[in-house]
Amino acid sequence: MWRNDAALMFLFLIFSMVVISDVYFFESNITAYFSPTKVCTKAPPSGLQNKRRCRVGYLLLEDKEKRIPFYTFKEEYRDDGIDLIKVHVNSCLADQGPFDVLVHDFTDIVRGAKDGDEKAELFLADLEEYISRHPRMVVMNPLSSWKLLHDRLGAQKVAKEVVKLLNDPDITVPNRAYLETSGVENIMENLDASGVTFPFVCKSSSFLEDDNHRMTLVFGRRGLEDLDLPCAAESFTNHSGILHKLYVIGETNFVYGRPSLRNFATSDDLPNVQFSTSQVAKAHSVSPLNAGKHGEPTSQTRPVSADKISRISEMTRRVLGSSLVGIDVIVQDGTGKHVIIDMNDFPGYHEVGTGEFQTALLQLLKTGPCSCLDSKEKKT
Ligand SMILES: *[C@@H]1O[C@H](CO)[C@@H](O)[C@H](O)[C@H]1NC(C)=O
Ligand SMILES: *[C@@H]1O[C@H](CO)[C@@H](O)[C@H](O)[C@H]1NC(C)=O
Ligand SMILES: [Mg+2]
Repeated sequence: MWRNDAALMFLFLIFSMVVISDVYFFESNITAYFSPTKVCTKAPPSGLQNKRRCRVGYLLLEDKEKRIPFYTFKEEYRDDGIDLIKVHVNSCLADQGPFDVLVHDFTDIVRGAKDGDEKAELFLADLEEYISRHPRMVVMNPLSSWKLLHDRLGAQKVAKEVVKLLNDPDITVPNRAYLETSGVENIMENLDASGVTFPFVCKSSSFLEDDNHRMTLVFGRRGLEDLDLPCAAESFTNHSGILHKLYVIGETNFVYGRPSLRNFATSDDLPNVQFSTSQVAKAHSVSPLNAGKHGEPTSQTRPVSADKISRISEMTRRVLGSSLVGIDVIVQDGTGKHVIIDMNDFPGYHEVGTGEFQTALLQLLKTGPCSCLDSKEKKT
C-alpha cells in the first residue's frame, strides 16, 4: 500500500516539475537557462603522471547495458587514464563516488519508479542531491536537458529554439498547434492561426512512453470531427518515407535511415489513421503507412546534407548543454529542407556499432571533461 502511494506521489512530483519547466522554459528564451557543456580551456598538464585518473560513473539499466556494453569498454579506457565505474541503483552515490563525470539513463530509472520500484525513487532523489552538491562533476546529459526532452512536446520546443538560432531557411520545424477544445470551426481557427496545414499528424503528449507515441494522421477537415483531444498537431511533410536518425556523441555524429510515413496528399474523403511510432519507425517497419522497407526514393527525394546535420547537432548540444542526444530529421521532397521532428535524451544508439560508440565516447571524454583534471584538485 505504502509503496504504491509513495510511487504515485513521486510521479506527481516529477510531473509537476515537468509542467513547471514547460511554463518556464518555453514562454521565454530557452537558451538563457542552459550553460554549455564544460570544456577544458586550460592546457593539459605536460606529463601524464601529473594527471590524476578520470572517474566516470555510468548508470544504465539492464536493457540498455546489453545494447551499449560499457563494461566491455573498461580495459581500453583504462590505458587513457579513465576509469569507468558502474553505478548501482541500490546504494547511494556518495558511497560509490567521487565521480568526475556521470552518464545516466534517467528515463529508464523513472520508468522503473513508475512501476512502483522504491529503489529507483530513492535513487532519483539521491542523484539530484548528489548533482547539486558536486557542481564540478560533469553530467554528460544534464537533468535540465532530460526534463525538456523526455516529453515530446518539450522536444519540439527545443527543436524550435535550435532552428531559430541556426537561422537557416532550409532547416525548419513543422508548424504546430496544441488542440484542446473540440468543434470543427474552433479547431480550424486554431490550425490556421498556427499555420498548420493538412495533412497533419496529431501527437498525444505521453508521459514516460517516449518510444511509443500515439499519433493520428488527419487528411482533411472532415477528420477533425473525430479527433481524440488533447493532442499536438504538426503539419505533415512529404519525405519519401525516409527518417534520418541522427545520434550525437559529443562532436561525433552518426546518421542512419529508417522507414517512416510515406507521402500523403490532402483529402476530405480519407478517414483518420491511428498509429504508433513503434509501428512505423523501427528499422524493419513495413506497415501500410510505410513507403516500403527503405522508403521509395522518387525524383522528388532529396539527400540528407552532412553540413546541415553537423550544424543541427552542434546547436542542439549548445542549447541543451548535453553531449548525448538523438535527433530525428526528415528531408522534404522537392525542396530538400531539413525538418527536425523529434529529439531524445541519451537515445538507444540502436544502429551504432559497439566499437564505434566506444571510440566516440572515449574521444568525447578525453577531449572534454577528462581533459580538465588537475592533480592538485581536491577530491570531494
Ligand atoms: C533571447 O536570446 C537572444 C539571443 O541569445 C538574445 O539576444 C535576447 O536578448 C534574448 N531575449 C530575452 C527575452 O531574453
Ligand atoms: C505529397 O505527396 C503526395 C503523394 O505523392 C502528393 O499527392 C502531394 O501533392 C504531395 N504534397 C505536396 C505538398 O507536395
Ligand atoms: Mg521523443
